[in-house]
Amino acid sequence: MDFDTIILGAGAAGMMCATRTGGRTLVVDHAKNPGEKIRISGGGRCNFTNMYAEPRNFLSQNPHFCKSALVRYTQWDFIELVDQHGIAWHEKTLGQLFCDGSSKQIIAMLVSEMERAGAELWLKTALVDLAKTESGYRLTLDKDGKRVTASCRNLVLATGGKSIPKMGATGLAYEIARQFDIPVTETRPALVPFTFPEGRFKPLAGVATPTRLSNDHASFDEALLFTHRGLSGPAVLQLSSYWREGEEIHVNLDPEGTLLDALRNQRQKSGRKALTTELSNHLPARLVDALKTDIEMDGNLADQSDAKLQVLCAALADWRLTPSGTEGYRTAEVTLGGIDTNALSSRTMEVTSVPGLYVIGEAVDVTGWLGGFNFQWAWSSGHAAGTAI
Ligand code: FDA
Repeated sequence: MDFDTIILGAGAAGMMCATRTGGRTLVVDHAKNPGEKIRISGGGRCNFTNMYAEPRNFLSQNPHFCKSALVRYTQWDFIELVDQHGIAWHEKTLGQLFCDGSSKQIIAMLVSEMERAGAELWLKTALVDLAKTESGYRLTLDKDGKRVTASCRNLVLATGGKSIPKMGATGLAYEIARQFDIPVTETRPALVPFTFPEGRFKPLAGVATPTRLSNDHASFDEALLFTHRGLSGPAVLQLSSYWREGEEIHVNLDPEGTLLDALRNQRQKSGRKALTTELSNHLPARLVDALKTDIEMDGNLADQSDAKLQVLCAALADWRLTPSGTEGYRTAEVTLGGIDTNALSSRTMEVTSVPGLYVIGEAVDVTGWLGGFNFQWAWSSGHAAGTAI
């Protein structure tokens, strides 16, 4: 069977690409349903983009690479598409846009746009063999147990990254890259919780608090969540993309810097109150209790000199921890790194050394922050390749 374009992967990027390619397009996926990660994203409501998306929200060995695609298909373009399909949405926080109803609406929208563009979708279809031919590519596929040969001029790799293998994530794009001598940067789990030695935060599991979480590379003002295994929550997921094994993280439990004044005021008003009681008005009580072992906080407010309060607040503003690791690809929302952007055209996403081969979405070494940025990259890069084809 002959196609103009075959897209491997019916995820966010692959489906968007298929809505733009024109000609005879086939989208192939080994899963039973398209867009499985869209379905589970954003707690079932899909944080489909971010109003403030811009290149600084993306990590890559070449931070300029994402600019061209992002500017040619912006968050506003995707919002317009969502509006055209009558999907109601809302901003949750920090520009993050979610469906009011269900993430399935985004999948249905993409599937109907693919149908409108005339693209075929083969699910439960795995790639058995891929060969370069004079005019393009020949794929041997296992389509629901049957061998099928399909050829195409343009081949698009949209099989995503390695995160959540249970959901069908594979390193196929990286394997194909190796077949064609395309460089792949180091890949690692990102947007992933930190782990600590067993039991470290067990008594605090479920406690959440606002923080400024930072290390030498980045800083995020968002919530921190203690878990049975370690630390999670948006601040942690964000920082995990900038963290390497063995590095310390700094937890600022007083991100607004108002604690010292608040304690001084209370010392004047109710000096006989225990310091820990007053601290529990500013931090979760269970956290205060746990911190007592690390930070000196005995006595009443009246017992605290200004100097003592300053030392206490400084300690709470710079609690240093060294994670033992991360939860890995099992729970990571994305894969950091991927197909080296030096091998790709930033305008078309085509591999410069292999005409007709394109790479889009998470498979590329472009990784967004938490908050709708990764889907925006999938839409923008899918659009770039689709319109170029
Ligand atoms: P994606 O993973 O979407 O699609 C790849 C497709 O290729 C899949 O359909 C897969 O089945 C298929 N495939 C893989 N290997 C194959 C093979 N060997 N043969 C055939 N097919 C194969 N981002 C965001 O912006 N907002 C959010 O709310 C969330 N939430 C979120 C929650 C969770 C739990 C996760 C794991 C991830 C997120 N993300 C997110 C990240 C987001 O899901 C991700 O960045 C995009 O789905 C990437 O789009 P792609 O199309 O590149 O890959």
